[in-house]
Order: sequence, then structure tokens, then C-alpha cells
Amino acid sequence: MFDPAEFVEEAVAHVKELATGRTIIGASGGVDSTVAAAIAHKAIPGQLTLVFVDSGYMRRGEGEFVRKMFASMGAECKIVDASERFFKPLEGVIEPERKRKIIGEQFIRVFEEEATRDGSEFLIQGTIAPDWIESGGELRDTIKSHHNVGGLPEKFGLKLIEPLRDIYKDEVRKVARYLELDVAERQPFPGPGLAIRILGEPTWEATEIVREACWIVEEELEAAADKGLMELPWQYFAVLTPVKTVGVQGDIRAYGYTVAVRAVESVDGMSAAYSKVPHEVLDRISIRITNSLSNMVNRVVYDITNKPPGTIEWE
Ligand code: XMP
Repeated sequence: MFDPAEFVEEAVAHVKELATGRTIIGASGGVDSTVAAAIAHKAIPGQLTLVFVDSGYMRRGEGEFVRKMFASMGAECKIVDASERFFKPLEGVIEPERKRKIIGEQFIRVFEEEATRDGSEFLIQGTIAPDWIESGGELRDTIKSHHNVGGLPEKFGLKLIEPLRDIYKDEVRKVARYLELDVAERQPFPGPGLAIRILGEPTWEATEIVREACWIVEEELEAAADKGLMELPWQYFAVLTPVKTVGVQGDIRAYGYTVAVRAVESVDGMSAAYSKVPHEVLDRISIRITNSLSNMVNRVVYDITNKPPGTIEWE
């Protein structure tokens, strides 16, 4: 039986023993990196640099959420606004794998600068057991390796410490609950962020549209769950499609974009079923999105595809 208190005690001792110099950790706001950072903060508060890299493709208020969460545990998290450096090389890029590659490279570059700036010798990562085990020792795939800033330690001479490498997601969540972290029940969010929820070029304008739509989906589904109208889905967000259809604005016909709403039930993201969101909730989402983005979006659709054959993200 997994005991989070015992795990935290051992992990703190492990980090204390290994991290004998300046240590850096990238906090993404996700549960794995937050738990790893909380453990590191308990172990080596005086020699830790905590960095949140804002790529510009984050959800609304994400940097502030992360900063406050760490502040509440007495840790300072540096927010690096690197959005210009992400948007520029993504100009004209529509192919999802290229987006991922460019974003992954930029994350590494920004992180490298931060590590050099404060002379870090050690890097703590929130890698968990499935990231390694499913592929016999290698990071699972480009998705995860990007998310965990794969390749960074060897390249920059940083020594890697992975306090969560022997535990699984449900155990990480147990540790997060035990540490009373706000991220314990948080839905997953992809490393490349909103850029892969825009089907097409991830411009500033497109990003603002999808950020607002995602915010509305989150607010409405969380409110509906609070009211007991439904269970909170495992993951829920909006996608901006490049499909333009005719609509009516005032008295005139106007072309606007189509936003797709996605909400799924899953255990580990490997398979998923679309959530049976009550129609009254979908109704509110649709009305709010088309009102708030009235000049740009005139149609909202709900994705009723399971995984397989679909995936959770649209890319
Ligand atoms: P798909 O779309 O492949 O997604 O069904 C499965 C789950 O993985 C999340 N996802 C990512 N997570 N880094 C991550 O840590 C990534 O680059 C990434 N891309 C997708 C996705 O949100 C879903 O929960």
C-alpha cells in the first residue's frame, strides 16, 4: 500500500543527498512538476531555482496561478515571459509535429539560459515511472520527452535528479493531496500548450481566441460540476478549427470560425470516451463563446468521438 507521507520523507532525503549544489527545476503548473518542485523546496530551499516559462500558449492566468501556488508554500517561482521567442519561429507553421519541435527547442533554449544564469549544476525533473518503463528505459515518445525537457541534462552538463521516477500518476496525485497542492485534481495540459489546439498557424489572434474559448469551457464545466449537474470530466477544452461558415451578425451574413468543444473521460489518456455533458451546459458554453468572440466565431460544435479512433487533442 502506497504511503504518501513515507514517500515524501524518502524523496526529500534523496534530493538532499544528491543535490549538493545549485539546482534548477522547471515548473509547468502540471501535477508532476509541481510535486517534484514541492519536494525539492522541502529538501533544498536555499539552493533551488524555480522557473515557469511562459510560451504565450498557456491558459489564461497560468503564470499567476503557478506563482501564487508556490508562494503559498514559501517558494519563489520566477516567471519568464518568453512568448516573443515562441511566436516568431512559429510564423507560417501549420504542421503539428513542426510546431511541437519548434516549441520544444525554444523551451530548451530558454531553460538553458536560466540554468547558466544562476550556475545550476543539477536539474530536477518530474519524470514518472510510465515515462520510462513503457519503452524499456527510453523516454516514452517525443511528446513526453519534450514535456520533460528531454536531452537537456547531458547537453548542458546538468546532473539529473528524478524524485518521482518510481511512482505512477495515481500515486503522484496522492502525494499532491497529501502535500495539499492545488494541482492535485488538475486536468492534464499538453506541453506545447494552446499551439496544438489551433488547427493552423498559431498566431497571436488565434491564440487569444482559443484561450478565451478554453477559459469559458473550463468555467462552465467547473461551475456545472460544483452545482452537481455533472461530474467534472477528466479533461475539457476548446479547439479553434480553420473552418469558416456563414452566419448572421446583426442583419448581415458574415463568415466566422468554428470552435470545437472537447470533454472526455479517461484514466490515463491512452483511451477515452467523450463526456455526456448535459445539453443545458453545452448551451451555455455555445452562447458564451459566440457572444464573447462575436466578431470571429459564429459556430460551436461538440466532439462526440471516443479514443480510439480519435485522439484527445485535435492538433
Ligand atoms: P492524445 O491527443 O494523444 O493525448 O490523445 C493524450 C493525453 O496527452 C496529453 N498531451 C500531452 N501531454 N505533453 C504532455 O505532457 C505533450 O506534448 C502532450 N500532448 C498531448 C493530452 O492533453 C491528453 O491528455
